Amino acid sequence: DSGGHIENIPFSFDGPFGKFDQNQLQRGLQVYTEVCAACHGLRQVAFRTLADEGGPHYSEDQVKAYASNYDVFDPELDDTRSAIPSDKFPANTAVGAPDLSLMAKARAGFHGPSGLGINQLLYGIGGPEYIVAVLTGYTGEEKTQAGVTLYENTAFPGGWISMGPPLEDGLLEFADGHQNDTQHMSEDVAAFLMWAAEPKMMARKWLGFVSLFFLGLLAVLLYLTNKKLWAPIK
Ligand code: HEM
Repeated sequence: DSGGHIENIPFSFDGPFGKFDQNQLQRGLQVYTEVCAACHGLRQVAFRTLADEGGPHYSEDQVKAYASNYDVFDPELDDTRSAIPSDKFPANTAVGAPDLSLMAKARAGFHGPSGLGINQLLYGIGGPEYIVAVLTGYTGEEKTQAGVTLYENTAFPGGWISMGPPLEDGLLEFADGHQNDTQHMSEDVAAFLMWAAEPKMMARKWLGFVSLFFLGLLAVLLYLTNKKLWAPIK
């Protein structure tokens, strides 16, 4: 395993009752928009979902205004036009950067101990942690191989990544005045990408909780029924 050690980060959406932090998702969208979107697409995410409750929860008007900053190809017009909320974010294949729609679920941060993945039971799969670790894992070493510049990175498998460090302390200003060092910006964009990859996570966790609750209740009732049925016979 040439990828480095990845630290758990206590995200608001961890655990059975975890919830996305609306402000964090809005900051993460800002990081994506101002930095990552230059190279990465988000082609599975529809603009209208930015208005979802439990997600970034922007108003319909804000979503309309945001979408209109993007150009999308419309097969009916056979031309590009500015995006509307029902469109998806465009893909971006300009420099061969992978699409980020599912990145937070496509990568694991925790594999241990001894490759057994037991840490995943305690800390989750670690997709957002992996993203943070890549964004903060640059050592500053560079090399050129077959004409491509590679940057040494402690989290990226193989240790050398072709993405230059996209963030630096103070790169952008958050409207809510939140800390804008590399670590915090990385956590915010990782949280946003987790939401993008699994916008219904909170509904899934709630359904899981309700199911287990009723299964527990059923177990109690069956136990009591069993007792009652056999009581006269014993
Ligand atoms: C790879 C995220 C900005 C170009 C990656 C990977 C992640 C990521 C997580 C690793 C994917 C993997 O494990 O395979 C981000 C985020 C950004 C950002 C969150 C904004 C904060 C950029 C920018 C560029 C870029 C601005 C172009 C200048 C690339 C390329 C790769 C990559 C080319 C492929 C690297 C390789 O396979 O060696 N990005 N990225 N990224 N990114 Fe970014």
